[in-house]
Amino acid sequence: MKIRKTFLAAMLAMPVLAMAAAPVINVYKSATCGCCEAWVKHLRDNGFKVEAHNVANPSDTREKMGIPDRFGSCHTAVVDGYAIEGHVPAAEVKRLLATKPKAKGLAVPAMPLGSPGMEGARKDAYDVLLVLPDGSSKVYQHYN
Ligand code: CU
Ligand code: CU
Repeated sequence: MKIRKTFLAAMLAMPVLAMAAAPVINVYKSATCGCCEAWVKHLRDNGFKVEAHNVANPSDTREKMGIPDRFGSCHTAVVDGYAIEGHVPAAEVKRLLATKPKAKGLAVPAMPLGSPGMEGARKDAYDVLLVLPDGSSKVYQHYN
């Protein structure tokens, strides 16, 4: 009876532990990139554990992760086997990790003004793209 109770308690505690252990997101960026640093801060402000790596060619990671060049931005991050290219809002990364779609990852091509890390006077509309295994993409979320 006692053993059974302990087992049940362990079972109940498991989902809590799974939520607490947020995966580390590795960001590959160039040392001189200010907007990359601002995006890293955006992730941290939203509860992510970030490991930032300054590299000579951030695009090497994009290539390695199979994100086509046309979706390219200033930095590439890797979390849970997914690539996160460019100034993707933390909320979309969280949704990706919660739903785990079959995809290479998310991308915000180029560097739209007004996206996280690119805040300023001007705010442009942009799409967060889900990059599919075949290299095509679909709109994951539109931002105004
Ligand atoms: Cu940037
Ligand atoms: Cu960047």
